[in-house]
Formats: sequence, structure tokens, C-alpha cells
Amino acid sequence: MSLSAPARRLRAAARSALHAPSVFNSQPWSWRINGDTLLLYADRSRQLHSIDPDGRLLMISCGAALHHARTALAADGWSAEVECLPGAGHPDLLARIRLGAAVPPGPRTRRTAGAIRRRRTDRRPFGDRAVPENLLTRLRRCVELEGAYLHVVRQDQVPALAVACEHAAGAEHEDPAYLADLDRWTDRPAWRGDGVPAGTAVRPALRRVPVRDFAPGGTAGLVTGTGVDKGAAYVILFGSADQPGDLLRAGEALSALLLLATAEGLASATLSEAVEVSWPRLLLRDLLSGLGEPYLAVRLGYRVSGQPVPATPRRFPAEAIKVVAPRSG
Ligand SMILES: Cc1cc2nc3c(=O)[nH]c(=O)nc-3n(C[C@H](O)[C@H](O)[C@H](O)COP(=O)(O)O)c2cc1C
Repeated sequence: MSLSAPARRLRAAARSALHAPSVFNSQPWSWRINGDTLLLYADRSRQLHSIDPDGRLLMISCGAALHHARTALAADGWSAEVECLPGAGHPDLLARIRLGAAVPPGPRTRRTAGAIRRRRTDRRPFGDRAVPENLLTRLRRCVELEGAYLHVVRQDQVPALAVACEHAAGAEHEDPAYLADLDRWTDRPAWRGDGVPAGTAVRPALRRVPVRDFAPGGTAGLVTGTGVDKGAAYVILFGSADQPGDLLRAGEALSALLLLATAEGLASATLSEAVEVSWPRLLLRDLLSGLGEPYLAVRLGYRVSGQPVPATPRRFPAEAIKVVAPRSG
């Protein structure tokens, strides 16, 4: 099918955005190319109703995909004109993107875009080396540039974060709807190109803050290793509200955070259990001293094992990106 030059660039950006992180690797988005416009839609058929009844994590995942697309366009030498939530009465139309001015990419943009394919969620414990303060400051700034905030959890607050995650995990494992979603979204057949494979789950171990057990049957593929998360930094991504626009921005900020962390040689793992259950969520809000709405937490650090984490699968581009009108009229 013949596509205009802008549409080809937008399609390439949408392809890069398929590598974005998403809750349970549900990839709850679809892209459409309509003339010279790229449209991002939420795909509610991929929503995890047990842990995400309001679609907050779905919106954050879509925001991460939006930021990935913007980053890919920037590395291709184009600014993006983005209209978020442009369609009153069309809540699932999340963003309309057009090419803006040509802007030659600087080395920082190239490095960030280069992290798109290298970034992985690494659930193994990280090592003793601490994340430098100045890097945490840069990560905080990059989150703020996307319109969200980052709280670096103080050492004396880590036990409260651990209690929040542990309580949330316990409550979820008592919930048959959660167990059904976990079963549905883990170890899916390879042709589906989504879900969390057991090969990327980590075997249970004593941790400062527990991570989600994606292989409760004991089939996790990653060995825990010798790290105990001693040098890990825990951060909470937050904002002033949790309306759809706030959550989309939170996702853009999460993507900016994870890509910069990857470009700087950090390993990362998102932790959302504590915001999925009401009491642990209140604990997280307390850690923010009431300054805002917690969106999720992220563990950052230096990996101990040189063994790479296997890539999680992605859907075929032809399934997730549709061309509805090849040329603008
Ligand atoms: C909104 C959101 C919530 C997530 N929550 C968790 C979580 O609680 N535990 C976890 O191990 N990974 C979590 N992840 C990471 C996803 O499982 C991961 O992005 C997905 O499996 C794809 O793998 P990748 O990040 O290696 O590409 C979350 C990601 C997002 C975007």
C-alpha cells in the first residue's frame, strides 16, 4: 500500500512504540494511520479488570507508548505535534500525532531512542552499588519535564514500601479474579506476542521489597543471583490528580524515566502492586506526605549478573498498527 513520506515516518515511530512497557505486557493500545496523522487508541479488550478496574494502569501503559513514539520521531529528526485526548465523546482516542518541524537529533536524543530496544524489566535483585545522587536528580528532572513528579524513597521509608507491596501481593493472591488474570496473561502461546513469559520472571527470594510473582507455580526462568537490592533506589512516580490526561502524562514520564535509566546503564523494574489495592495505596500516599497521587513505584539499580534478561514478546506490527487512509485528501 502506498504511504506518503510523513505517514511512513509515523508508522516507523508506532513500530518503535510497540516496545514500550505495559502492565502484564498487555500492550493495551492500537495505532491507526489516517492520512498524515497517527492516532493512538486505548484497547479496552486488553484491560486487566481484576487489578485495574478503572483503567489507570492501561492509561499509563498507553502514555509510555506515546512517549516511545515521540522519542523515535525525535531520533528520526522530527518534532511531534501531539494533541492528547482530542475527541470529546471518544474517550478511547488518546492522542493525535502529526509531524512538526524537522529538528536534527542531538546525541542525547539518539541515546534515549537507542535505549528503546535495549530496555527490559529486570526482576532480579540488583547489586550493592548505589545509584548516584546526581543521576537521581537527572531522572527526577526528566519526569518533571513530562508533567509528573518523582519521589525518591528514603532509606527509612523502604520498610513501609515493602509492607505496602507485600500486603498488596497477599490480598491479590487471595482474589480468584486476580489469579485468573495472572493465569491468562502469563506464559501465553508465542504466536500471541504478549503477556509475561516465565523466562522473565524471577524465583522468589528474600528481598528488601518483594516483586510480583509472575510464576507462582515455581517455573520462573531467572535465577535470583547474589544481589540483595542493597544499592537499589526505589522511586514513586506521582502527580496532582489521576484523571485520564494525568495518567497519560504519567505514562510518558515513566517511559522517559526508564529510557534515561537504561541509557545511563541502570537496570529497572516497575512495581505497581501497591497502587492496585486500597490500603497499600494509602501507605504510598503517606510516603508522599500527601503531596500527590501515587501512580506506581520503580526499582532502579545496577545488575549483578551479566546474563541478559530475555526480551518479552510483542504483537506483530500489522496487528497493532492499521492504515485506514493511505494518503491525506
Ligand atoms: C503500568 C505498568 C505496571 C507494571 N507493573 C509491574 C509490576 O507490578 N511488576 C512487574 O514485575 N512488572 C511490572 N510492569 C512491567 C511489565 O510487566 C513489563 O513492561 C512487560 O512485561 C514488558 O516487559 P519489558 O518491560 O521487559 O519490555 C509494569 C509495567 C507498566 C507499564
